[in-house]
Amino acid sequence: MDLTREEEAILNGEQGAGIQKAMELVTALGKIYGADSLIDITSAHLSGASYKTIGDGGLKYLEDLVAGGAQVSVPSTLNPVGMDRTRWKEMHIHPEFAEKQLRIIDLYGQMGIKKTCSCTPYIGPNVPSMGDHVAWAESSALSFVNSYIGARTNREGGPGALAAAILGKTANYGLHLDDNRKPTVVIDPEIDGSVFSYSLLGQAVGMAIGSGIPYFKNISPEVEEAKALSAAMAASGSMALWHAEGITPEAGNFDISDLEVIHIGKKELENAYDKLNRTEDVQLIAIGCPHLTEKEMHQIAEFLKDKEKKNKDIEVWFCTSAEIRERCAEDVKIMERFGPVLADTCMVVAPIEGTFQRTATNSAKAGNYLPTLCSQKAMCRDITALMELVL
Ligand code: F3S
Repeated sequence: MDLTREEEAILNGEQGAGIQKAMELVTALGKIYGADSLIDITSAHLSGASYKTIGDGGLKYLEDLVAGGAQVSVPSTLNPVGMDRTRWKEMHIHPEFAEKQLRIIDLYGQMGIKKTCSCTPYIGPNVPSMGDHVAWAESSALSFVNSYIGARTNREGGPGALAAAILGKTANYGLHLDDNRKPTVVIDPEIDGSVFSYSLLGQAVGMAIGSGIPYFKNISPEVEEAKALSAAMAASGSMALWHAEGITPEAGNFDISDLEVIHIGKKELENAYDKLNRTEDVQLIAIGCPHLTEKEMHQIAEFLKDKEKKNKDIEVWFCTSAEIRERCAEDVKIMERFGPVLADTCMVVAPIEGTFQRTATNSAKAGNYLPTLCSQKAMCRDITALMELVL
């Protein structure tokens, strides 16, 4: 891989240990994937922020980076962490966990990372533009910005995205290159257009093809549907980019006439639903994967405004960003009659397995991860059907 003189100097440690570590990781990834050079990035989004997922080893890694003077050089945001920063007691979080989690957030902050702790930073405050090269972790968010916005990122892991953020560069391979953004299969779906149907569609496509770059016909997702689809396909498969005819910005660039066409209809959606529903009896309903948008908060509050929670045995959590919680104060008042509106966190990266064994969600992504990462029996239904369980 060709490095400039300045990049060589960083690799040789001439600008400090923190940035040298970052250069070592980015160039190692570049060599593995055959990159010819490094390219500048305009932003980063970092995962690996929950104490539950990174543990004491991750905490020590961050301590070392900060001690080495590491600082990000492009605007960077942080994924959800293991708890709401201020309301963690309502989540049954142990004080020792809380202390370590707050330390992790503080360390990211010391490196110049914005402590938003949300998986929907593309709604704000981290909004890439079409054609921007970025380094994003968080599989749902990176798929959204690749697909719906037309920015360019690989499916970064937490350490790779952090290293790129420190350098302001990433290795030029994979989805940064035009040739690797071509669709590999056409999907012809039949869905009802609800957000939940997009989540199930993503699940079904992941189950059908596993990987690749799907090109959708006959769908018109808005932001909420696109985030549900991105999240589901990234969890049930490993998709990091999709195109939708007439909708996503790069869809018109490709000739799809020779591609295989896969139909996703009633049977495939039912199979997807069955895969995600493994219990009828839940202790927690957790809504907001990916984090709820302002529109979704309004819709939920509108549905709940004349209702009351009758089943007190089931806890309800709503997950969103701190910014959206603040902006939707009136909706929050209504929603909190049913359960806390939590910011900074979600049902998957929080240590819910210490309290619950059976959890319901509206998201195919969470439906995939609740059994594997949180030891839960999961239920997956649309928001209205979930709320009916407590009405
Ligand atoms: Fe976001 Fe957590 Fe889902 S990070 S995409 S709410 S699993």
